[in-house]
Amino acid sequence: MSRILTALQPSGILHIGNYFGAIAPMVSLQDGNENFLFAVDYHAITVPQDPAELRKNLLFAAATYLAAGIDPEKTTLFQQSRVSEHTELAWILNTIAHMGELERMTQYKDKAAGKGEGVSVGLFDYPVLMAADILLYDTEIVPVGEDQKQHLELARDLAERFNNRFGDTFTVPKPSIPKQGARIMGLDDPAKKMSKSASSEKNFISLMDDEKTVLKKIKSAVTDSGTTIEYTKDRPGLANLLTIYSLASEKSTDAIVAEYEGKGYGDFKVGLAEALSDFLSPLQEKINAHLDDPKELIAILDKGAEKAKAIASEKMRIVRDRIGVTL
Ligand code: TYM
Repeated sequence: MSRILTALQPSGILHIGNYFGAIAPMVSLQDGNENFLFAVDYHAITVPQDPAELRKNLLFAAATYLAAGIDPEKTTLFQQSRVSEHTELAWILNTIAHMGELERMTQYKDKAAGKGEGVSVGLFDYPVLMAADILLYDTEIVPVGEDQKQHLELARDLAERFNNRFGDTFTVPKPSIPKQGARIMGLDDPAKKMSKSASSEKNFISLMDDEKTVLKKIKSAVTDSGTTIEYTKDRPGLANLLTIYSLASEKSTDAIVAEYEGKGYGDFKVGLAEALSDFLSPLQEKINAHLDDPKELIAILDKGAEKAKAIASEKMRIVRDRIGVTL
């Protein structure tokens, strides 16, 4: 039995990269482990959020996890801001984190690009709050997509630094990055990861996209001038589409390549769009059913926060004692 933990930002759109990179792996680890999953609302506010939208997005995130197969009896499901120990530990970790290591974070560099002096301190400090999220629960395994690997390294470094200075306190966590789906690329630019903050909606397939939208986006996905369907790193656009096809249909890429032998991009894209819609529509039905009952969602999140708080507050008692502020 291991302690597994992951989190996602409740920022409106969840896309298939989030699903295949983190949500599905979390669901598959659920049985036989002790699991924590939460919506990181205090991370989300590092970029401006409309309060009414944020409230909606929190419920949407919870509905999505449940629809994906998260069982609240097996996984403690909650909202980060409800457990104030996350921000308290982040403050303490701030005192041992180095400016230099945060300046090296590629996600920060990407998000801060072009913002000049106006970039928020929160955006800079984001990875320290993430480290607190993880270390607070003595997490052993963190299922994440490839883009979070660097943040996980920081969490490991901070755990080790704290332990060396104040005595063994935190478990050093390990990332779990799926073999397939760890880095779903943008449909309009297969050199960059699929991202909800991309400038074009054609970059991503949202979990809520309808059949028509999926077909339109897949048809306009960037490929190359080749004519055959094959899986090779030299054709990154096609390789990305084959990966998505495989994850949505649960068929191997080899089986899909065999299915399209002698056929071209036109047939392949129609088949992929169909496979995606077949995967998305039952998920959407379940998400909508959960959204129809917000009271039930809130009750689940309340119960989760209570369970998480009990563990987090005990850990903070130890941390405060170690650093010498307990009299
Ligand atoms: P976020 O909300 O940006 O993304 C949530 C999860 O989705 C994965 N992901 C992808 N996987 C594959 N292909 C993609 N194109 C893709 N885009 C996103 C991410 O790797 C992530 O696993 N900082 C985190 C949230 C966080 C967290 C934590 C995660 C806060 N505290 C503690 C784990 C543990 C983030 O912004 O993820």
